[in-house]
Amino acid sequence: MINLYCLECNKKLKNIQISNKRCICDSSRDISQDISIQKDISIKIKNLFTKRKNIEKLKKFEYGKTIIPLSKSTFSSEEIIESMQSHLSTYLTMGTKVGLFEKSFSKYLKTKSSIAVTSGSTANSLALAILSSPMVKNHLKPGDEIITTPLTFATSVYPIEDIGCKPVFVDIDLETLNIDEKKIEKSITNKTRAIMPVHLLGIPCKIDKIKAIAKKHNLFLIEDAADSSGAEYKGKKLGSFGDISTFSFFYTHIMTTIEGGMVSTNNKYFAELAKSKRAFGWIRDLKDKKKIEKKYKNIDPRFLFITKGFNFKPTEVQGAFGMHQIKKLDSLIDARRKNANYWAKRLAKFEEYLIIIKEMKNTKYAWYGYPIIVKEEAPFSKNQLIKFLNSKGVQTRPILSGNIDQQPVAKELNYRKQKLTNATLVNDNGFFIGNHHGIHKIAREAIAGYFEDFFNQYEVR
Ligand SMILES: Cc1ncc(COP(=O)(O)O)c(C=O)c1O
Repeated sequence: MINLYCLECNKKLKNIQISNKRCICDSSRDISQDISIQKDISIKIKNLFTKRKNIEKLKKFEYGKTIIPLSKSTFSSEEIIESMQSHLSTYLTMGTKVGLFEKSFSKYLKTKSSIAVTSGSTANSLALAILSSPMVKNHLKPGDEIITTPLTFATSVYPIEDIGCKPVFVDIDLETLNIDEKKIEKSITNKTRAIMPVHLLGIPCKIDKIKAIAKKHNLFLIEDAADSSGAEYKGKKLGSFGDISTFSFFYTHIMTTIEGGMVSTNNKYFAELAKSKRAFGWIRDLKDKKKIEKKYKNIDPRFLFITKGFNFKPTEVQGAFGMHQIKKLDSLIDARRKNANYWAKRLAKFEEYLIIIKEMKNTKYAWYGYPIIVKEEAPFSKNQLIKFLNSKGVQTRPILSGNIDQQPVAKELNYRKQKLTNATLVNDNGFFIGNHHGIHKIAREAIAGYFEDFFNQYEVR
């Protein structure tokens, strides 16, 4: 069953409207044609995807030859049909579908509000713009310090500087590749105002401990969960622990809206501010806009700006994708966990030379990629292992932006650096291979086989 929309007003049609062939936006117009067009096109799109799936099933996996890519698209006919309907109605700017996606995301995460934006990067910019807004009590100010991890994606860090704050890099824990919570308290000064942990590659930080530190020192807690949609720590979804959290739905992520992101929070005031700042700082999307309008009678309420803002508005296409992706999220994660747990067992015999990341008890990792770190004492280099895997068709990449302290851009950044031994090790000796729903039993086993072939070659057992 597909959702049906009125192609005049882009509103989802209720059963009663479908049977009466009339939408409430125009009772004089027969909507039969709207319905038949949507049904006809959707059948054709579904057939195309079914055919594609069947062809893929017939493809034989060749050991050592078949390419195992870093990512595979997570969408199918449902997302295309839902977004096609917005194209037909010509309503493509932020509207009904973005709203439906936001509601379902909050319900899934068990947070009060979610605000969709254009990317994980803009989600971070928006979250920090909220916490530094003069409209927020005890807001962040220029010169304040924010404790974070050096091992992340570059745009977890830039937005901290964009609001005039100083990133303070605390080294990572090799068990999780995330900020080492044991080192956080030593880095707190009288300038520290926030902690921004990143749940790297879908691997949870020890977020309960970090939350306790934030509470003890009265610090804001911002979770960058860009890689971790759907992952859990002690039964709670990542991104539901902090004052505010951010997500990325880029094409290669656990779920996708192609480009896209989300800010989520339990703070209703932050949510309203986010809705305003996402759209230039105007009031159109606010709950109490009528009250604000009354205060400024001389200003056209459609163009009434109450705070500095951006244009981070997603389109209906992103909303349409998100509505379906959220329903698929758990099964996408299950496929990734099956691979990772299998590899953890098969590769355990190589732990003398490799750091293998394993799920902590009482957690659910989302596994955006499967990381491998070559230990310093190994008789081979990271590049030798990568070259071997690549020669067998296994694609690899660095662990996000590596240790940002080692990137040339670091020269432009004003941060407080501490000893970053583990982040440097992961930067120099780490990489990840793809881990996604497209890697089935045969490919999963083949990957473990390639590691064994490599170790046999080096006579390491
Ligand atoms: C931890 C982290 N934060 C932020 C981002 C930025 O997300 P986007 O690519 O959607 O802008 C990424 C991207 O991969 C990321 O991994």
